[in-house]
Amino acid sequence: MSAFPKHFLWGAATAAYQVEGAHDADGKGPSIWDRFSHIPGTTYQNTNGDVAVDHYHRFREDVALMAEMGLQSYRFSISWPRLLPTGRGEINEAGVKFYSDLIDALLAHNIVPMITLYHWDLPQALQDEGGWEARSTAEAFAEYARLCYDRFGSRVKLWDTFNETIVFIGHGYITGSHPPSVKDPARAIQACHHVFIAHALAVKAFREMVIDGEIGFVNVLQPHTPLTDKQADRDASALADAIHTHWLYDPVLLGTYPAALLAQTQTLWGVPRFAPGDDALLRENRCDFIGLNYYRRETVVANEEETRQQSNNSGEPGSGGEFGFKGLFKFVRNPDGVYTDWDWEIWPQGLTDGIMMIKERYGNIPVYITENGLGAKDPIINGEIVDDPRIEYLRMHIIALEKAIDLGADVRGYYPWSFIDLLSWLNGYKKQYGFVYVDHNQDLVRKRKKSFFWYQNVIASHGEER
Ligand code: BG6
Repeated sequence: MSAFPKHFLWGAATAAYQVEGAHDADGKGPSIWDRFSHIPGTTYQNTNGDVAVDHYHRFREDVALMAEMGLQSYRFSISWPRLLPTGRGEINEAGVKFYSDLIDALLAHNIVPMITLYHWDLPQALQDEGGWEARSTAEAFAEYARLCYDRFGSRVKLWDTFNETIVFIGHGYITGSHPPSVKDPARAIQACHHVFIAHALAVKAFREMVIDGEIGFVNVLQPHTPLTDKQADRDASALADAIHTHWLYDPVLLGTYPAALLAQTQTLWGVPRFAPGDDALLRENRCDFIGLNYYRRETVVANEEETRQQSNNSGEPGSGGEFGFKGLFKFVRNPDGVYTDWDWEIWPQGLTDGIMMIKERYGNIPVYITENGLGAKDPIINGEIVDDPRIEYLRMHIIALEKAIDLGADVRGYYPWSFIDLLSWLNGYKKQYGFVYVDHNQDLVRKRKKSFFWYQNVIASHGEER
């Protein structure tokens, strides 16, 4: 007997910029990714999402493939500047119509839509006014969320406000590899605070408009394991948990920041700066569920040299890294680990452990696994896409998920990344994740991979055959 609850949803996920294309069609405004990806040297071989896999024009064909696969739910994101070309104010009705038609097509096939409001494509016009560093962006986000609830709320029951703050804030404001390419931990922390405020405002609007559904937040789930049993490595791993996990989960699940870390960032840099009422706003507008994107774990060692440097400089951040603390710990390769071609450790047990860690810290909050998948270069043998490593990866993670359910976690759905091969932000089209292959040499023709048929069977058997 399968452990998966009766109403458990077997889904798959994508994001607007990575699939839609049609970057300037029908009144859409530019996003920060439209702008950034056109700056030479910012992305892999200067790839961009101008066309992507043209889902904007081919969504009916894509939804038909989802239906054929038996998909029960589809997680996709809305491109904010497609609805509001300058981020607020004037509505682009053609953009509204696109998502409205997509939702109707999904519902016609009994596929439950899960909408992500923000998967990184901020309207460029808002970036020009300060982006996430400006509090007004959080207010504009609430206006955009209200528009989405108003137009789609009677048909859509599952909503994510944000996707992976650690990535778009970490890379946008610390490593600089995503727009707006800033490298400043203090600015990162303030921008991140505005994201939490935007989330809270959107949850508040959701409740005020009495939308019949659930709203959550999607975070990376990335367990940390110390390389050795040495106290210094265990401390480093605990610090990595505090910065990479607690800092990003506590505000949306508990309504507060982790106190020790907050004291430290405020002493070092005076951030985050709270506006009057922020405390209550966060506390009173928590999530209904949490979305977890699980790909890998990280192995951690203490970075003692940097620790010394940090204390000698009294107050200077460590060298680079998320939130300026990364110098105190380092991620290293696990000598016993199995890695993907992109050096991500494959460790299914981390999915079980991560879900149980969430349950322990935050109570039995409903969980959706909103992403999980293998990025690989798939072999084509006699015209067939034989993605056996993907099948094996997903199979092991479904087993790990089942373990967490057996242990009492309230897991409600599984959304492998991704439904279709799509644009990887920094790896172009060569890192494939999909159940469906897209031939970029032949008019973006779709082809079902081996994993397509395998997942079809997983869904049909409610997880028993895998
Ligand atoms: C997640 C993102 O971080 O990882 C996706 O939500 C992304 O948008 C996925 O595509 C895989 O990342 P990458 O870098 O392998 O394409």
